[in-house]
Amino acid sequence: MKNIYLIGFMGCGKTTLASTLAKSLQREWIDLDERIVCQEQMPIAHIFEQKGEAYFRQVEAALLQEISCTSGKIISTGGGIVGDKRNQDSLKKGICIYLDWPFEELYTRIADDATRPLAKSYDQLKALYETRKPLYEASCTLHVNCTGQTPYHLKHYLIETLALK
Ligand code: S3P
Repeated sequence: MKNIYLIGFMGCGKTTLASTLAKSLQREWIDLDERIVCQEQMPIAHIFEQKGEAYFRQVEAALLQEISCTSGKIISTGGGIVGDKRNQDSLKKGICIYLDWPFEELYTRIADDATRPLAKSYDQLKALYETRKPLYEASCTLHVNCTGQTPYHLKHYLIETLALK
């Protein structure tokens, strides 16, 4: 049974959907950011401040690589996971679901969120979104247009579409 990865920009609901999907399917849920926080013993924002983004990306890639050698898990990833070629290869070993929301919707959710070090100005975030969108599209097995959907609907849609039960 392949791992299932949820990918997408900050605020797209990867964590919420992964946890509820895992519960319904009685599978183990792993939140990659939470694993990093646990391992490093500090919040993501502090890792960025004190050790730098490059360090964070190294830890993120190493953990993903380790997890990609396992099976049957549901994994919520951080929004920047697709920026690294090594990660794209790790994601390809599983089923990868891209949760696609329009930028304006995501911006209302992440603006001024101090826990997200990359949630800076509108223009910076918009540019990051535009850069990453093609990477999410290239890395995913299933591209889900989430507009107007609740986590409940998305969960059932995924279970049916991927014939997970
Ligand atoms: C990041 C997204 C964050 C977290 C880190 C970097 C990004 O996760 O991994 O702050 O580069 O987009 P979420 O997508 O869960 O906010």
